[in-house]
Amino acid sequence: MNDAFAFRSENPVLVSLRPAGFADFVGQNRVLEKLRIMTSAARQRREPLSHILLSGPPGLGKTTLAMILAEEMQTHIRITSGPVIEKAGDLAGMLTGLEYGDILFIDEIHRLAKAIEEYLYSAMEDFCIDVMLDQGPNARSIRLDIPKFTLIGATTRTGLLTAPLRNRFTLQTRLDYYEAEDLSKIVRRSATLLHIAIEEEAAMEIARRSRGTPRIVNNLLFFVRDYSQHASHQQVITLKHAKEALALLDIDTHGLDEMDKRILYVLGYHYNGGPVGINTIAVAVGEERQTLEDVHEPFLIQEGYLQRTAQGRILTAKGWQLLKKDPENEMQGKLLF
Ligand SMILES: Nc1ncnc2c1ncn2[C@@H]1O[C@H](COP(=O)(O)OP(=O)(O)OP(=O)(O)O)[C@@H](O)[C@H]1O
Ligand SMILES: [Mg+2]
Repeated sequence: MNDAFAFRSENPVLVSLRPAGFADFVGQNRVLEKLRIMTSAARQRREPLSHILLSGPPGLGKTTLAMILAEEMQTHIRITSGPVIEKAGDLAGMLTGLEYGDILFIDEIHRLAKAIEEYLYSAMEDFCIDVMLDQGPNARSIRLDIPKFTLIGATTRTGLLTAPLRNRFTLQTRLDYYEAEDLSKIVRRSATLLHIAIEEEAAMEIARRSRGTPRIVNNLLFFVRDYSQHASHQQVITLKHAKEALALLDIDTHGLDEMDKRILYVLGYHYNGGPVGINTIAVAVGEERQTLEDVHEPFLIQEGYLQRTAQGRILTAKGWQLLKKDPENEMQGKLLF
């Protein structure tokens, strides 16, 4: 098969924690409702699912949902990713290798090369592609039919998708950060699957500190388990152990990571709360602009620490509070978190 089908070798434990069907998938109720409606209607008609675009920050369940959709539709899923598809031929090979009803999952679809993206248009809409044969004066193209398939695209950046591509998805839906309640359910679900006993308060503590992200919640659970096992022979993870373990990891009680904090610090202390352009922040914190926009900003904005304005980013009152200084008295602030 084609090289561009890059099956990722993922941690087998994490894969087994991945919900296998809608029923196991915690949270994101609005997204799930739409997907449930689409899958049951398509199944009833015995037709392939229409194309779906899933967007949202990393670790919220895009890949998981694509796999669940394949499971629910009882079909195969082929997994690839935007940057891996280098030539139009790679894509043509993939598309012609599909069977009726198969799902093609393209992760990081915003990183597809323009020329390749254009090939996708006719594939998605008319289920055919025009392949060029020869070059120069002998150039001619032949039309290849493709079995009716479903494209599921995943992206952290809907904004970077061209309108023609975006509009060819029947459903465009966005995953949001999870509520602590839902994350706590995920901790308890993972703990059960791993045969770990955990106090309810301990699960909640891990949930609150996970940046609204299931992937982080699972990683923290692994560490807390190790810590608990190391610290005592108790069989149950207690709140005390969870707190101690998370303190050891420097995980902040607000769920912010190192880079989140650095951004707030730079905004507050170097730029007086802003407004500051994103490029300036990127240079100041030593991170790529895109990562700031994909990973850090959405969380800081959702949590109300930062605001995006036409002039640039500004620190909110809540952000200032976190920096332990108020807007009137900003020069005396000390970084206390
Ligand atoms: N709703 C959920 N319920 C339970 N576990 C979840 C849920 N969503 C995600 N997970 C867990 O979180 C992990 C990360 O999810 P996934 O790989 O689907 O994220 P993603 O959105 O594709 O991230 P990326 O953008 O980095 O590719 C999965 O291994 C899965 O176990
Ligand atoms: Mg993914």
